[in-house]
Amino acid sequence: MRGQFITLEGIDGAGKSTHLHWLADRFRERGRAVVATREPGGTPVGEALREVLLSSAHSIHPETEALVVFAARREHLARVIVPALEAGKVVLCDRFTDATFAYQGGGRGVSEARLEVLERWVQGELEPDLTLFFDVPVELARSRLGQGRAPDRFELEHTDFFERVRAAYRARAARHGARFRVIDGSMSLDAIREELEEIIASY
Ligand code: ADP
Ligand code: TYD
Repeated sequence: MRGQFITLEGIDGAGKSTHLHWLADRFRERGRAVVATREPGGTPVGEALREVLLSSAHSIHPETEALVVFAARREHLARVIVPALEAGKVVLCDRFTDATFAYQGGGRGVSEARLEVLERWVQGELEPDLTLFFDVPVELARSRLGQGRAPDRFELEHTDFFERVRAAYRARAARHGARFRVIDGSMSLDAIREELEEIIASY
């Protein structure tokens, strides 16, 4: 038996973490075992690599950035995601490989062909069963971002960076229409939850 692999995507401030917690509760109410996790991160090594990636103390070459996110992903797949799916659980993951195509590809300009090599190497044939893409205008997402804590290395980027990331997400959603659901993340939480309820009814 194989569980379900559901990923949540969108630019910083799109609402992914908020919706992930709500979805985890919905699945648990239905009696499903849920693993809620995130990238980069989800394992001790992955969380350490996350600190390196998000620290604004240094700059990182774009291809190094891509290699590090895929290194963290390899660890995450081996130790968390694949075992949970094999045990029949629902895996809810805050970001996955679509984020690499959006941020390192669209945002930083790393070639898609190189990212595809890493994707195949790290994942083989494994893909999310469902990807929820919360699409929001860049200005709205930025206005929602955490007051009270220092912005990380990505959050320090300018509006045009996030416009490229958003455009790359939208292009990817159009190209992989079978597994993507695009949700207007600027709606109220209640309206979004109603839509999510319908989407997950068949999972
Ligand atoms: P992400 O994980 O995508 O960066 P979060 O879930 O942390 O985004 O949301 C960022 C902030 O915006 C949080 O304070 C959250 O409560 C708020 N927020 C998220 N979605 C909505 C929404 N649809 N309407 C209003 N506020 C929202
Ligand atoms: P995340 O914690 O989801 O940020 P937020 O909660 O602010 O939305 O992700 C941290 C950052 O890592 C985010 O700015 C995007 C970046 N990232 C990449 O650049 N490539 C990747 O493959 C992943 C998974 C994340």
